[in-house]
Amino acid sequence: MNQRRMAGPPADPVDAASWESAAASFPGPFRLIVRDRCTSTNDELRQLGEDGAPHGMVLVAHEQTGGRGRRGTPWHSVPGESLAVSILLRPAEPVALWPRLSLAAGLAVADAADDFGIRAQIKWPNDIWIGRRKAAGILVEAAAGFAIVGIGININSPGFPEKLADTATSMKLELGVETSVPAWLGAVVGHLAVHHTRIGSGFPTLLDAVRDRCALTGRRVVLDSAAGRLTGTVTGIADDGALVLDTDHGRRNVIQASEVRLLD
Ligand code: BTN
Repeated sequence: MNQRRMAGPPADPVDAASWESAAASFPGPFRLIVRDRCTSTNDELRQLGEDGAPHGMVLVAHEQTGGRGRRGTPWHSVPGESLAVSILLRPAEPVALWPRLSLAAGLAVADAADDFGIRAQIKWPNDIWIGRRKAAGILVEAAAGFAIVGIGININSPGFPEKLADTATSMKLELGVETSVPAWLGAVVGHLAVHHTRIGSGFPTLLDAVRDRCALTGRRVVLDSAAGRLTGTVTGIADDGALVLDTDHGRRNVIQASEVRLLD
């Protein structure tokens, strides 16, 4: 039987002490709020941000009833199996540079995966891939004076519904064993604490690490950009973070795109 399609027993719920011990590893000023259930950690934390919550506030939910992905798609996180977390940042850099937080967050997740012995890649700009399957997604949203970095990671999912079986994966499927959801939280926050500081003058350093992990370089892709649908081969990531595409009509730098689809 295809392991990716097996239902498997539900993962154990995460207890409060495990969240607390993960939070104890956070560097300052990051600190944790835990919710048993909320609609979306991004929405809940945005509200707290509007009420003045400080830089470094991390909100994790055992269960999200209305988790959101990019382009308004629903994001399903299963209690005990997935990490659903949002992190409030008040960057000193201009708002125009905040979209770079997606790359910083993607790198933080990929570096956390390294800590667990998994080699992950960044599918520019928002997804984390292992092989060619998605293991995590990032949703960065800007508000007045702050940004919310939302991260969803498939950690202990034993399998996926048939329609996702070829495109989704989890850390458990890759490693063959379960790992601690709070330990992932500690690792991700630890790496993000470093990478989020590199969206300004430190961006070349951030970019070098992202380029090393770029899942798209050398691949033929199709994407929808502000300039319309583009097809071409990705040659890399430019110094401003744009995806560089060799098309039949010349080289294009794509700063924002909806879903990027591999053609090979
Ligand atoms: C995507 O791949 O489309 C992005 C998925 C982002 C999901 C996370 S889970 C925590 C946070 N809260 C949400 O509602 N979304 C993000």
